[in-house]
Amino acid sequence: MSAPTEIPDVVRRALDLSRDRGFITSTRNETGRLLATLAASRTGTLAELGTGCGVGAAWLYSGAPGSARIVTAELDANLAEDVQRIFSDVDSIEVVSGDWSSLEQYAPFSLLFVDVKDVKESIDTVADLLGAGGIVVLDDYVPSAFWPPITEGRVDTVREQWLTDTRFAAVEMLIDPYASLIIATLR
Ligand SMILES: C[S@@+](CC[C@H](N)C(=O)[O-])C[C@H]1O[C@@H](n2cnc3c(N)ncnc32)[C@H](O)[C@@H]1O
Repeated sequence: MSAPTEIPDVVRRALDLSRDRGFITSTRNETGRLLATLAASRTGTLAELGTGCGVGAAWLYSGAPGSARIVTAELDANLAEDVQRIFSDVDSIEVVSGDWSSLEQYAPFSLLFVDVKDVKESIDTVADLLGAGGIVVLDDYVPSAFWPPITEGRVDTVREQWLTDTRFAAVEMLIDPYASLIIATLR
């Protein structure tokens, strides 16, 4: 797919940290550009569960309006400290060191990027974190050509629920032949 080669400065900092740490599960640029595109339509507070090296937060920041706030939580305190350092001059990104649930105090969110596996399995928990019309992006699925979706030879009942829950309008999107994500908007 076609995309400019330039990367926003904040994203570059996070990618540099990923490389320095040998952190291989950072958000890919295709997903990041999607996050930025969605963030551009949002106001209020945007959140990310699972900061990693800050790549997702940086893409959200790059697309969001100047008035928006981005909060992100990372369980690994040492990693959270590194990300706080690289974003120390970016007032609208707040990196919280701790479990994702420490972000509940900042809800409701207009956009939520869920990058902690366990949280993706609780639709009710995610729904409670969103404001009216809030969008959630769930990362890291392996595409399935079947319905219901199959993962490792079994029906992926959680993915099936995400794509059929009547509280949301939801779609699974291919990021590349081997990776997909779900975007769901609270009605
Ligand atoms: C896939 S990586 C995140 C990548 C990141 N979102 C990005 O955009 O590059 C998942 C991260 O979630 C963190 N994590 C795992 N369990 C967590 C929890 N309960 N609360 C907060 N962070 C958690 C891991 O330490 C890891 O850094």
